[in-house]
Order: sequence, then structure tokens, then C-alpha cells
Amino acid sequence: MALTAGTRAPLRMAVLISGRGSNMASLVRAAQAGRIRAEPRVVISSREGAAGLAAARRLGVATEVVRSAGFGGSRLEYDRLLASALRRHGVTPRAGLVCLAGFMRIVGPELVSAYRGRLLNVHPALLPSFPGLGAQRQALDAGVRVTGCTVHFVDAGVDTGPIVAQRAVRVLDGDTEESLSARILAQEHRAYVEAAAMVADGRVRLRRARAARA
Ligand code: GAR
Repeated sequence: MALTAGTRAPLRMAVLISGRGSNMASLVRAAQAGRIRAEPRVVISSREGAAGLAAARRLGVATEVVRSAGFGGSRLEYDRLLASALRRHGVTPRAGLVCLAGFMRIVGPELVSAYRGRLLNVHPALLPSFPGLGAQRQALDAGVRVTGCTVHFVDAGVDTGPIVAQRAVRVLDGDTEESLSARILAQEHRAYVEAAAMVADGRVRLRRARAARA
């Protein structure tokens, strides 16, 4: 009998962070509350002192650090360390869901292809507008009246993968980077939980480089 979303075991979730970890905390809480059909297994940080590590421990989730600063090896070598940290916690390509949440490193093609369809990222703009760093600043500088956030499958490009969910945020007169970022962040938390929930229970999957509803 084929396993369906209803009968298959919940996916094992890893969240990769580099800093504050507010998206991480929102994903972990949603999974712990049963709003994402996934079991939070590990939070991995590229920075030792990331505030999100303490937040993860408070939430009862295992943590790992795979230090990025001063790492002397290649991207492939770094990604292999990440992959072995994921595997140590059972977050394999078959059983896992990996959520990048403010993870300030580009994931290389080997890891991207191993976790194809199981690797998500959140970005603080309505992609394909304003990819890369400083998306909120880019939106202010461009004078757009609406921006937002995007959750997408990760592909080999930077902020280019198939889009799973987006939420719009109005740019207000007098907005600063801080005020706009705060309103976008609140929507990121909602969009990421929605997107992860859809992927975790098989309602959305990656099909021919598009996010398709099942
Ligand atoms: C979030 O705004 C996320 O969209 C952004 O970093 C912040 C992390 O916040 N990511 C990027 O800009 C990646 N291109 P958090 O640590 O509180 O979740």
C-alpha cells in the first residue's frame, strides 16, 4: 500500500540559522503545537553566539554549530559538515525537512540537490524583486508601495527557487528600514508556518522546478 500524507511518519525538521532565530522559534512552536506535521529535531547555527541557539534550547530542541566564520575549507566541505549534522539528527533527504531561516550562507549544489523539494528558505521581499542582502532597504530605495516576504524551495541560485508562499506588506510614509523590517518579519512568521505545513503534509511539492499543489 502506498503511504499517503495522512499515514506517513511526520517529517523530521531542521532549522538553519545565523542570528536571532525568530522564524526558527515560530516554526518550532508551530510544529510542537501540531500546526506543522513535522518533528523539530535540530537547530543548526553557522554562528556560535547566535541568539537563536539559546531560544532553541529553551524550546527543548537540540542544537549544533557548524561555524562559518574562519572556516578554511571549500563550500562543498562546509556543506558536507552540515549534511552530517543533519544526518546525526535523522534529518535525511527522505525523512527530513530543512528550513533556512536567516541562514547567512549560500547552500551549494550538492546539498541543494540531495534535499531537493525538502529545503525551504524565507526572504524578506516579494521575490523575484529584491533578492540578496538588504531586501527591505532595496524596497525603500526603489520607492515601492508594497513589498513583503517569500517562502521558496531552494534551488542552485540565490533567492530564485520555486515560490511556495508570499505575503504582502504595505510600505508606509515615513517607514524606516527597522519599521518596515518589523512588519515584514511578522508576516514571515505566518508565511513560513503556512508553507512548511503545506510541504510537510504533502499538499505542495516540487514538480518540474515549480511548487505544485497536490
Ligand atoms: C529574516 O528577516 C529573514 O527573512 C532574513 O533574515 C531575517 C532573519 O530573522 N533572511 C534573509 O535576508 C536571507 N536572504 P530571524 O533570525 O529572526 O528569523
